[in-house]
Parts: sequence; C-alpha cells; structure tokens
Amino acid sequence: MGLVGPGFVGAHHIDAVRRLGFVDVVAVAASSESSARAKAEALGVPKAYGDYQSLIADPDVHVVHNTTPNFLHVPVIRAALAARKHVISDKPLATSADAARDLADAAARAGVVHAVTFNYRGNPLVQQAREMIAAGEIGDVHFVHGAYLQDWLLQPTDFSWRLEPDKGGDSSAMGDIGSHWCDLVQHVVGQRIVEVLADLTTVIGTRLKPAGSTEAFARASDAAREPVAIRSEDLGSILLHFDGGAKGCLSVGQVCAGHKNGLWFEANGRRASLRWKQEQQNELWIGRRDGPSGILPKDPSLLVPGAARYAHLPGGHQEAWADAFCNVMRDIYGFIAAGRSMSEPRPPAFATFDDGYHSACVVDAVLESHRRGGAWTKVRAAMPVATT
Ligand SMILES: NC(=O)c1ccc[n+]([C@@H]2O[C@H](COP(=O)([O-])OP(=O)(O)OC[C@H]3O[C@@H](n4cnc5c(N)ncnc54)[C@H](O)[C@@H]3O)[C@@H](O)[C@H]2O)c1
Repeated sequence: MGLVGPGFVGAHHIDAVRRLGFVDVVAVAASSESSARAKAEALGVPKAYGDYQSLIADPDVHVVHNTTPNFLHVPVIRAALAARKHVISDKPLATSADAARDLADAAARAGVVHAVTFNYRGNPLVQQAREMIAAGEIGDVHFVHGAYLQDWLLQPTDFSWRLEPDKGGDSSAMGDIGSHWCDLVQHVVGQRIVEVLADLTTVIGTRLKPAGSTEAFARASDAAREPVAIRSEDLGSILLHFDGGAKGCLSVGQVCAGHKNGLWFEANGRRASLRWKQEQQNELWIGRRDGPSGILPKDPSLLVPGAARYAHLPGGHQEAWADAFCNVMRDIYGFIAAGRSMSEPRPPAFATFDDGYHSACVVDAVLESHRRGGAWTKVRAAMPVATT
C-alpha cells in the first residue's frame, strides 16, 4: 500500500494495515519531499514522495490510501482511479454530493476496489447490534437518536483546516463527525436517512489562525496568529426521517467541553432498545420494559458469530478504536486479496464509495435545510445501502 497525506489519521491507516501481516507498506506522499521524508522515517516506510502523482505511478503500490485534507480527496482519488489502483479513502469521500457521485461513478468504471473508512462499523458490538436488529430481536425500530460531540475546537485559538471551506468543505461538524454518526446508525439499523431538518450554529465566529499548519488534535504554538471569520458550523441539532419509518435526532458539535470522542447512538424498537457508546465501546446496553435491562459485554463467547469475528480478545480484555480500525482494513484487504469484484457481497465493516456518496447527500441536505431556515429537506435519492 501507499498512503497520501501522512497526518493524524494516516498513521493509524498504516498501523492497521501493518497488523494484517500480509500487506507491505511501501510509500508515503506528503505535500513536499522534505515532509514526506520526515514522515516516512518516523513511520518506518521505505519510500517518500513529495507529490501524490509519483506515489500513484509507483508500480509497487497496488492500493492507494487517501488521508489528505478533504479538498484534496477528489484529485488524489481521481488520479489513483485513472491508474486503476484500488482506493481506500478516509471520510468524507468528497465535500459535495456531486463530487462524491463523480468519484463513485469513476471507481465503478475503473473496476477497482473502493472503500471509505467509516471505521466505527468495525467494532464488534456495533456488529452485534446490527445483527440483533436484522434478526428482529428488538422489534421494528421507531426511534434512532444520539450524538457525536467533541471539545477540541472549543477555544478561539483552536484551529483546523476543517474550518476553512476551501479545504474542509462548507460543513465542519456535520461533514467531519456527523457523517460518521449517520453512516453508523444507517448501517446498524438497516434504514436510510431520507429527510432532515437542521439547525446549525457557529458558536466561535472568529478564530485565531496559527501561522503554520496544524495537524488534527495537535496544539498550535502561540506564535503569530491572525483573526479569521468562521462560516461553517461547529454545532448542530438535526431531526431525521428514515426510509423504514423510524424518526431520529442527532446532536453534533466540536465545542462541547468534556466530550472527547463522544459518539453514541440508541435505537428503540417495539420490544427492546440498544445503546452503544464509543467511549465505552466494550459494552452494549439492552433496554427492556418487561424484564431487567442489562449490559452485554464484548465477550466473543456471548456474541453472535458475525460479531464475534470482529473481537480478537476474550471477555474482560478491552478492545478499542485502533482495533476497530484494523477490523475495517481486514474486511477490505481480505476482499482485495481474494481478487473479488465490487459486484460480489462484501463483509459488513467495508463501506464503499456508494456509502460515501450517500453520506455526502445527507450532509448536503443538512446544509440545505439550515439555509432554508430549518425546513424538512429530502436527501437526494441514492444507491441501496451496502449491508453485506
Ligand atoms: N476515520 C476517522 O476517524 C478520521 C479521523 C481523522 C481524520 N479523518 C479524515 O482523514 C483526512 C485527514 O485528516 P487528518 O485529521 O489526518 O488531517 P491532518 O491535517 O492531520 O493530516 C493531513 C495530512 O495531509 C498532508 N497533505 C496536505 N497536502 C498534501 C498534498 N498535496 N499531498 C499529500 N499530502 C498532503 C498534510 O501535510 C498532513 O500530513 C480528512 O479527510 C479527515 O476527515 C478521518
């Protein structure tokens, strides 16, 4: 594999792929030769390229990972597809539904494997919840709610390219983390979001941008800063309608003190409820009306087989974010190594460019709803959800 954009999440792509044991990490490409060399040395990667075109042209690279800032996703992915390389892109696939649609179509034409790392799908208890709902264990789901809250952009001195529309896209909180939540609940519940009503807010309207670039979650030095007006939202409340009849509600924000990676969802069905919290990801709450509610721990001996295969340690041994990320890579690379084509069934933690396109449609609809003063707005009709 070769990776373009070795920043915060790029290092975790490399770590996850290395843990598979059958993939060579060949090269990284960064925005300059010197930064690429420094990153390659720090990550123990043999080759370093100062531009993504050279990495894509390298015949040793069969799979291109894209972990660049959002505005570079389209050119990097287009170039990789033109060279007929498999592509694993981080989310959001693109900063608009139109651009994401173009990439999904180009990937289909190229006939390669294409994936988007909606990595929370790779958690064993997420798969347990999905299988329980699919088997009807909690009955028809009528309400899906939850949140994705963080606090790393709470201060005016906190800054990221995510807040600059030319680099991150028009949406910040929704595109960056709301996209994860929406993909996750659709995947788990097996219903698609078809209509949204959004109220978005920019809590920090002026930020102090550091002179140099800052990687995600890194602290900028107190060196020269310039005030910048912020247009994209850092907080949002969104009502949801699902195609299976469920109603939903999402709170999303990057300015909520004390919340580090506070993703959680709950699904309420006619017989029972399920709740999963990313920050306590080894527990699944099962809520019952006519019996005791309880916690199902991540113990492979207690999980259905389809979920147990995502757990690699016995009960009581905690698994976490990086393990779920590795599970996603195992599903994708297993598919590539078996020589499968995208028309064949895929394992569940493997989200495709079609899923990335649908996610971009939801983000677009959220922005449009807000622009229309909080009007119900239809999500552009999309391809069917990839559930298997
Ligand atoms: N799946 C997840 O949980 C998750 C987590 C974080 C980020 N992401 C996504 O991953 C992507 C990267 O986010 P990040 O937080 O790692 O950002 P980052 O800023 O930490 O890293 C981006 C990297 O891209 C490099 N880069 C910039 N221009 C480049 C160019 N022209 N060619 C090659 N490299 C270039 C930067 O130098 C930097 O190293 C974003 O799309 C983001 O949405 C996903």
